[in-house]
Amino acid sequence: MSKRKFVVKSGMIDFINFAKMIPTRKSHLENGPLTRVPATYPINELAKLNHPGKMELCVSDIIVHSDDVKSYILKSAESKKLAPFRAGQYLTIQLKIGSSLVTRPYSIASTPNDARKGFYNLTVKRVPDGFVSGYVLDNIKVGDKITAYSPEGTFVYEPIRDAKTVVGIAGGSGITPFLSLAGSIADGTCDANLVLLYGARTSKDLIFKAELDELSKNDKITVVYVLSDSKEKGYEKGFITAELIQKYAPETYSVFLCGPKAMYEFAGKEIEKLNIRKKFVRFELFSSASKANEIPGFPMDKEGLTFELTVKHFGKETKIPCLSNESVLVALERAGIEAPARCRSGECGFCRSKLVSGEVFVPSNTDGRRIADIKFGYIHPCSTYPMSDLAIKID
Ligand code: FES
Repeated sequence: MSKRKFVVKSGMIDFINFAKMIPTRKSHLENGPLTRVPATYPINELAKLNHPGKMELCVSDIIVHSDDVKSYILKSAESKKLAPFRAGQYLTIQLKIGSSLVTRPYSIASTPNDARKGFYNLTVKRVPDGFVSGYVLDNIKVGDKITAYSPEGTFVYEPIRDAKTVVGIAGGSGITPFLSLAGSIADGTCDANLVLLYGARTSKDLIFKAELDELSKNDKITVVYVLSDSKEKGYEKGFITAELIQKYAPETYSVFLCGPKAMYEFAGKEIEKLNIRKKFVRFELFSSASKANEIPGFPMDKEGLTFELTVKHFGKETKIPCLSNESVLVALERAGIEAPARCRSGECGFCRSKLVSGEVFVPSNTDGRRIADIKFGYIHPCSTYPMSDLAIKID
C-alpha cells in the first residue's frame, strides 16, 4: 500500500500558528486591566515637539550688520519649546506680502543649543531684485510675528557618512550654516573639525567675522578668509580654487558648499578636480530657480508666454495666470494660494503635486522627483515651468 505524502506549505504553518494564538489573546483581553487607553502617549508628544509642522515665532531682536544684512532673533510667540534642529538645517518662513503668500528657506545661523535656550537666528541678505529679502529687511521689526515650518534639510554633518574634518566653502549669507556648525563644534555638541574657506569681495563684505574669529580660537576650527577684489594682510587673495582647498585641508575630508550661484559654478568645478568621493561632497541648493530662461535646456520658443493654470486644491478649483519664465510655485504664491513648500529647489519633495494635464519643463539639475513620481505624473512646482495651459492638484 502506497503512503500519501502531505506537503505543508509555509502559509498553512502560519495559519496554524495564528490559530493557536487566538485562545491566548482572548484570555489576555479578558484578564487585561480595565483602565482606558490614554488619549496620547509620551512618544507622540515627543514627535509633536520635534516636528510641530508650523510654529508661530516672534521677532525679539534684530542685529543690523548693514543695510543689506540683518539677523533676526526669533522666539516662540506661544511660549512653547522650539523645534530642535541639526547644525546646517534651515527654517522656511511664510509671509503675506500684498496679495501674495510666499515662503523662503533660511539656514539657521544659531546653534542647536540656542534653540534649546529658546531662540533661532535667521540672517537675511538682500538679493538684487529679491521679492522677499527686500521686504524682510525693509519691513520686519521687533515684535512682528512670523510663521515658520519645522526645521528641515540634509546639509548636516553625519559622523557615519562624513570624514572627521569638514572643509566648508562659504560665500555671502551662505556662511550661516557653517556658523551654526562651528558653534556646535565649539560647544561640544558636534564631534568634528571644520576648515572654513569663506569668500567675499572685500573684508567689509564678511558677515560674522568677529564671531568666526572668536570661534577659530578653538583647535578644531580653522577659518580662512578669501577676498576676490582686494589684497589685505592676513587674507587669501583670489577665488576658492582646488589648490587653495588642498593648502588647508587634511588628507581626508568632506567638503560642504553653500553660497551664491557664481560660487557654485566656480567652486563646484574646482571641487570636481579634487576627485573626492561623492559621499563626501554636499551642496546646499537654495536657489529660487525663477529665471527659467537662464536654465540650460529651457525651450526658448516658449519664453515670455502666459498660460492658464487650473489649481484643484482642498475641494476648490481656481484658475490663475502662469508665466512660462516663472515656476508653478511662484504663480501659486502670486495668487495667494497656500502651497506647501520648503526648500524651493526641487529637492525636499514637500511641494509634490499631481500634474493633471499640460506640458511642463523640469530642469534636469533641480529634478529631485522619485522615478515613480515621474512615471505617475507628479511634479515639484518649485522647479517646474509651464509650457502650455496646465491643471494641477494640490493635496
Ligand atoms: S519645495 Fe522642496 S521640492 Fe519643492
